[in-house]
Amino acid sequence: MKHKLCRLEDLQNNTITAFNLGDKKIAVVYKDNTLYAFDDCCTHEECPLSDGYTEGEEVVCPCHGAKFDMRTGRAVALPAVEDVNVYHIYEEDGDVYIEI
Ligand code: FES
Repeated sequence: MKHKLCRLEDLQNNTITAFNLGDKKIAVVYKDNTLYAFDDCCTHEECPLSDGYTEGEEVVCPCHGAKFDMRTGRAVALPAVEDVNVYHIYEEDGDVYIEI
C-alpha cells in the first residue's frame, strides 16, 4: 500500500527522520540523493535506529553499535543478528512515497 510521507525538501541530506505510519515506526534516510526506509527498531533490543547515524550505506544503532545495510536491511554487525525490514521509497513530483 502506497503512503505519502512528506515533501522531499522536508528531508535534510544525511539525516535520519522518524515517521509514524499507523502503529509502525519507520526511519527514513535521505543521503546523496538516495532515499532509504526501514523499521525504526533495532532487532537487538529495540532501540530506535533514527537516533543512530549512518556510515556509507549502513545505519548504526545508537545503543550497542549494531549495523544494518540500509539497502537490504541485512544485519552486518553484532550484536544484532536479525535483519530489519526495508521498504520501497521513492520521490514523485517532489513528494516522497513509501510502500508498505
Ligand atoms: S539495541 Fe541496537 S545494538 Fe542493541
